[in-house]
Amino acid sequence: MNILDGKATSKAIQQEIAAEVAERTSKGLKTPHLAAVLIGADGASQTYVNSKVKACERCGFKSTLVQRPADISEEELLQIVDDLNNNDDIDGFIVQLPLPKHINEQSVVNAIRQSKDVDGFHPASVGKMVLNLPTFLPATPYGIMQLLERYDVPTQGKHAVVIGRSHIVGSPMSILLSKNGAPGNCTVTLTHSRTKNLEEITKTADIIVVALGVPEFLKADMVKDGAVVIDVGITRVEDASTPKGYAIKGDVAYDEVAPKCSFITPVPGGVGPMTIASLLKNTLLAAADKPA
Ligand code: GUN
Repeated sequence: MNILDGKATSKAIQQEIAAEVAERTSKGLKTPHLAAVLIGADGASQTYVNSKVKACERCGFKSTLVQRPADISEEELLQIVDDLNNNDDIDGFIVQLPLPKHINEQSVVNAIRQSKDVDGFHPASVGKMVLNLPTFLPATPYGIMQLLERYDVPTQGKHAVVIGRSHIVGSPMSILLSKNGAPGNCTVTLTHSRTKNLEEITKTADIIVVALGVPEFLKADMVKDGAVVIDVGITRVEDASTPKGYAIKGDVAYDEVAPKCSFITPVPGGVGPMTIASLLKNTLLAAADKPA
């Protein structure tokens, strides 16, 4: 059993990015600048956005955090998006999801200028991804593809089963794994809440990506020997024995599943850190060869 170490891989990628930023600056190119918009005070979202901002600083990027209360109107948020679209110093930005219920998420995502859409959520970015054209790939699926690539995990001709069809992870993951490329060329089954006999399907999988948000959902008897298991779950579960009062749980019953796997991602330290590395890669791409 091999651990796909997202923490170490993300650190290595961030070092590569920092070196590239230093080289850019020495050539008189612009310092990449990422902005993040955080609405409301959800603890998990705050943690993610803070990690993104800190990673920017480590890599020599500029970062801007725009924080507003949960009762902001959709119109005000669209104005912030418009300002970021028109701010030439900002190369890319993200609006952290989920947004408060009274705001239409799709309207906000649609308003992001595609050339600054470093989350890869804009319909034009999604369309390019489907067509296998160069674009910003959504950070979590992109991070998983990089882990598979850097660990030389065989994917060609393999049966990959994705559990969960969210726009952020499951759906793009199914597209990237099936694309003609390396990693890629998988035969993909995308499963979801209406799938029948899920266990019968996962037992035939060479690669399983679980992105449900249900702690310890994937059990050992759902996995065949030698499978590759990618755990995207990061649910906070109350745990009075920890200093923060909660523990982070993945979607995989790790202790019983890991011994059966050829490769597995741990939680924490697997997919999560890779998401940040991917966002930084996208921001570097957005800055391209703009002069300082
Ligand atoms: N919420 C959960 N994951 C993500 C992400 O990758 N980007 C944004 N903007 N919001 C998220």
